[in-house]
Amino acid sequence: MAVRSALMNVMAGAALKAARGLIRDFGEVEQLQVSIKGPGDFVSSADLKAEKILKTELAKARPGFGFVLEEGGISEGSDKSHRWIVDPLDGTTNFLHGIPHWAISIALERDGEIIAGLVYEPVRDEAFWAEKGIGAYLNDRRLRVSARRQMGEALIGTGMPFRDKGDHQRYLKTLAPVMSATSGVRRQGSAALDLAYVAAGRLDGFWEFGLQVWDIAAGILLVREAGGYVTDIAGGHTMLTSGDVLAANDHLHLPLGRLLKQTLNPGSVT
Ligand code: IPD
Ligand code: CA
Ligand code: CA
Repeated sequence: MAVRSALMNVMAGAALKAARGLIRDFGEVEQLQVSIKGPGDFVSSADLKAEKILKTELAKARPGFGFVLEEGGISEGSDKSHRWIVDPLDGTTNFLHGIPHWAISIALERDGEIIAGLVYEPVRDEAFWAEKGIGAYLNDRRLRVSARRQMGEALIGTGMPFRDKGDHQRYLKTLAPVMSATSGVRRQGSAALDLAYVAAGRLDGFWEFGLQVWDIAAGILLVREAGGYVTDIAGGHTMLTSGDVLAANDHLHLPLGRLLKQTLNPGSVT
């Protein structure tokens, strides 16, 4: 049975408290689908309320730490080494439409390195958590990435750009070859959970462009601690700044990366 550190207990406690409000609000969202005004404003206020709870709880337990909050921005703490990176609701569009696939993501950075991550999915009560050097867990169970070796058997997650976000043509170039090479592609709508699912072996890989640090900070640690690999699309380590992410199990990271690089940059892969 996994023994969580005091730090992870703080993170899990904050997430559980924020999740109670989100679950209540998610129940309301269904009613609002049919109202004239729709659930839009209601959901942004649910998101803000959750972020406030997370900030309060985390600050209470570790008063000096700084924050990178999706809604509230960056605030420096008196402790310059540590900062929390928080997405109070990842999968907002799912939440807005009453689709039960969304999560809270909390990561802790120490001197520029992510040392703890939690992706909590309240509807199924699934806490995916990892600490550097300790491993990745789903609730009490140790996680390991999948063992699949063949691209033809792999199920790959992705995130698609929408509206004016990202370069749609660049993304579309990468989708077709992955569709042909694998047993399927899923766009589930929460990058934090996509990475947690790679860690749990539910997905064999995942790629997306232009994500934000709060979408991926916890998930990257989860995949690595579960034995998988995470890089940017070129195989470098700019994920937290570029937002481009390629994650996969240890067997498929290389072939999936080559496929993506090849389509974006024909001639780059020999
Ligand atoms: C979004 C989700 C989605 C991804 C988007 C993100 P949000 O986060 O992670 O899967 O494709 O790029 O912005 O807005 O729901 O917190
Ligand atoms: Ca997000
Ligand atoms: Ca969000």
